[in-house]
Amino acid sequence: KSLVLISPSMMCVDPLNFESALRRVEALGVDMLHIDIMDGHFVPNAPMGLGILEALGPKTDLPIDVHLMVQDNDFFVELLEPMRVDQISVHVESCTHLDRTLARIREIGAKAGVAINPATPLSAIAYVLERIDYVLVMTVNPGYAGQKMTPASIRKIADCRKMLDDAGYGEIPIQVDGNVSFENIPAMVRAGGVNLVAGTSSIFHRDASWSENVVKMKQTI
Ligand code: DX5
Ligand code: ZN
Repeated sequence: KSLVLISPSMMCVDPLNFESALRRVEALGVDMLHIDIMDGHFVPNAPMGLGILEALGPKTDLPIDVHLMVQDNDFFVELLEPMRVDQISVHVESCTHLDRTLARIREIGAKAGVAINPATPLSAIAYVLERIDYVLVMTVNPGYAGQKMTPASIRKIADCRKMLDDAGYGEIPIQVDGNVSFENIPAMVRAGGVNLVAGTSSIFHRDASWSENVVKMKQTI
């Protein structure tokens, strides 16, 4: 198995055929399910609700990776507490008390991730490294599938890797989310991305079958 993890973004599948899509995704040999939870305020969209997440837990053995894109993170973290969730990332831009929120995520038994928008400086996460299990570097402005990678993305991933290493946190992995395409993957991985959120740019690309896309993805890694 490759050291780079593949996390399909489940907001990209047909919501009316979610369970059959889940079974097809499981058969692809992927590493975790990326679940985007949006509130229509922090980002101007809200494609998936907590109902689907709650229903998903008992129906799959794959790890569940929740990416919160919400204004009130603490409210959502408490709602996730009774659910089977393996890791939760919160955006630095909407967490007033980021340190406390991250500590709470670990307290409820999940790995804690900090997500950072394209324009936000890496210094925003410099003092929470003790609290996190991974960093989610956004390579598009969050909210929608099918966008183009923002221009500084590769530099940002590399700078994040360097910041973590220089601070003595070489073990903290970087997840990359947004326009993780066959074309962009090599540079993303070279810069330090080790957990790739796969959406319409790769696994769910319409030009080929999902399994052909996964094979192609693995070849580019
Ligand atoms: C939002 C999502 C999207 C998306 C990724 O956080 O995770 O970034 O589904 O898929 P692409 O960008 O390939 O459509
Ligand atoms: Zn996401």
